[in-house]
Amino acid sequence: MKTQVVIIGAGPSGLLLGQLLHRAGIDNLIIERRTPEYVLGRIRAGILESGTVALLREAGVGARMDAEGLVHHGVEFLFDGQRTPVSLSALTGGKSVMVYGQTEVTRDLMAARADSGAPVIYGADNVVLHDMKSDRPYVTFDKEGEPCRVECDFIAGCDGFHGVSRQSIPAASRREFESVWPFGWLGMLADTPPVNPELIYAHHERGFVLCSQRSLTRSRYYLQVPLSDRVEQWSDERFWQELTRRLPADLGNKLVTGHSLEKSIAPLRSYVVEPMQYGRLFLVGDAAHIVPPTGAKGLNLAASDVNYLWRILREYYLRGRGDLLARYSGYALDRVWKGERFSWFMTHLLHDFSEKSPFDRKMQQADRRYYLGSRAGLTTIAENYVGLPYETVA
Ligand code: APR
Ligand code: PHB
Repeated sequence: MKTQVVIIGAGPSGLLLGQLLHRAGIDNLIIERRTPEYVLGRIRAGILESGTVALLREAGVGARMDAEGLVHHGVEFLFDGQRTPVSLSALTGGKSVMVYGQTEVTRDLMAARADSGAPVIYGADNVVLHDMKSDRPYVTFDKEGEPCRVECDFIAGCDGFHGVSRQSIPAASRREFESVWPFGWLGMLADTPPVNPELIYAHHERGFVLCSQRSLTRSRYYLQVPLSDRVEQWSDERFWQELTRRLPADLGNKLVTGHSLEKSIAPLRSYVVEPMQYGRLFLVGDAAHIVPPTGAKGLNLAASDVNYLWRILREYYLRGRGDLLARYSGYALDRVWKGERFSWFMTHLLHDFSEKSPFDRKMQQADRRYYLGSRAGLTTIAENYVGLPYETVA
């Protein structure tokens, strides 16, 4: 087999890149280890930056998002029993975010891929990347026990944190930066109306709370929990009780409880690999970086990488601009590190760090009071939350 770009992984990164390349007339093959049902079964965050929304529209997959997604012009913070509404639009010159689950984004991208007729191979085992430093790289894998080989011009490693692509770069040619947080998030999805029209990020001495949503009838809540907790220890009843305890009475009284559709605990990690390319291999999304979910940047940083890579590849194929290829990592990492910084800042601001010294905890409290009590502080939160602008590839 032969194609122009082999994409490893059919998560949101791989599917979005494949869709944009296909629409630009660039042939690509997606190779995925799992089944489509497995990929769609993963529950992830649900906040799209304005740049991600624009890129999904540009890829021709914005119709259902525009019809069913909820535009949010604000977000709320809560600490010391006090609520602070943050008007994203007023602070950013009219920008907003879109509430639309990653599962739905993935579903729309899968449907577009099927309509386009461009190939995806699901259930591919033993994917191996070869000759990335040459200008004729290739990928081998097994499909139903049969060995396969695809020759290509470029490989896009969109295979998530546990994928094979990053590991294929020799250790001496990459540098990893990592920080692991000392707590996890217990998430619950329920078919109950959200407790508040806007998302609420809350600091409480018993731990952080996020009140999020997927629609007007489906809510998503998160609680900060110790890393040693197991999801089996959290009955629905215990979850709702703890959530109510961490919210002020006016909100707690409004909380509509119900059966959970899903409950899981996720550890929090900050991670970046540099550079994000090696020869003709480019890393995209979770394959290259992980953020804690507090800023809702995971999917948005994946979209940011796709934005740069597809424009660079389009310039290469349509205008012969080979010079841009070497600049992918620089473009992508500039925005990745800013996203890491914001996610780190939000995580630090809002969680309970019982192991920190009394002085450090006072500093954290002063940070909350400063950032949420000043227009300059609120503006820096708002401009990062709606998403920093992309640099123009030129
Ligand atoms: N061979 C083929 N496919 C693989 C391999 C492999 N060796 N390893 C992993 N994959 C597939 C996974 O099965 C998965 O479907 O790659 C895909 C990677 O998808 P994601 O983990 O969703 O990563 P990405 O597409 O970069 O999406 C980033 O997901 O985790 C969130 O916060 C993150 O929202 C962000 C988004
Ligand atoms: C979610 O709805 O799952 C969500 C929203 C905002 C976040 C993280 C997760 O910061």
